[in-house]
Amino acid sequence: MWQIIGAGAIGCLWAANLQRIGQQVHLITRSPCSETRLHYLDLHNNQQQFSVSCSTELIRSRDPLLICVKATQVEKVIQTHQRSIKPQQVIILMHNGMGCAEQVQALLPDNPIICATTANASLLQGPLNIKQTGRGITYLGPFNSAAKHHQGLAESLNAALDDTHWCEDIKHKLWLKLLINIAINPLTAIYQVNNGSLQEASFQKMIIEITRESLKAADAENIHFAEQELLNIINQVIRQTAQNYSSMNRDIFYQRITENEFIGGFLLKKASLYNIEMPSVKSLYNQIKQLENNYA
Ligand code: PAF
Repeated sequence: MWQIIGAGAIGCLWAANLQRIGQQVHLITRSPCSETRLHYLDLHNNQQQFSVSCSTELIRSRDPLLICVKATQVEKVIQTHQRSIKPQQVIILMHNGMGCAEQVQALLPDNPIICATTANASLLQGPLNIKQTGRGITYLGPFNSAAKHHQGLAESLNAALDDTHWCEDIKHKLWLKLLINIAINPLTAIYQVNNGSLQEASFQKMIIEITRESLKAADAENIHFAEQELLNIINQVIRQTAQNYSSMNRDIFYQRITENEFIGGFLLKKASLYNIEMPSVKSLYNQIKQLENNYA
């Protein structure tokens, strides 16, 4: 059985697709869930429904835990369920941003911890009601040595959503996602524009600057990307998701706490560790922080 913490867009996307292939799924939510059916509109416009089992507590201490909450909530959900998690239980973290795996390891030092990053996209239309809006590659890989023997989990997840792969060097994939997020998310959130608007020349200039600064931190961490290649990838994501509003854009729009600390904040911590100047990233980070502070 799969236990998924977080019934948001990504948690429900995995729940629906695992159920679709006959796997048992249990959803763990923050507050009691009154819905009993999961509604899933797939990319071919097929509407499917699955009956779901849901609770606010973990029900099994052996099965892998797929954690699909935002980076800002990961530490809290682990603290909430810590007493029910057995040391051999595999923890899979799937969210934007970096820095959470270290928090989880501090709380659960013996558990296998897997980090995952997905380019699948989905929209939560209501409680347990999702619409898949994009498909892409998912990578899972070990954060600690205890997780190294669990690559079979990537195969199981691949049966549910194809293009899911095990990647020993997951840090590289997580950094790539981070570099994409720092180029897209804060700008779309501050200026309240969709991803496609970043194709405008004024934004492109800023993206080059942000990317150049962020790459210095990646290099210092021994993660290497060629600048132009990375800019091409960022612009490809911008084109492919042109109509979408980024997750940070939506968070600011709905006055929610964003993943700023785990995107810009993470990069700035690395910058101070290696004495790197990052004026553009710092400015984005401060502007998002200011917007969050302005919430009533
Ligand atoms: O956070 C997001 O919204 C997405 O990760 C991305 C890739 C920026 C596309 O909108």
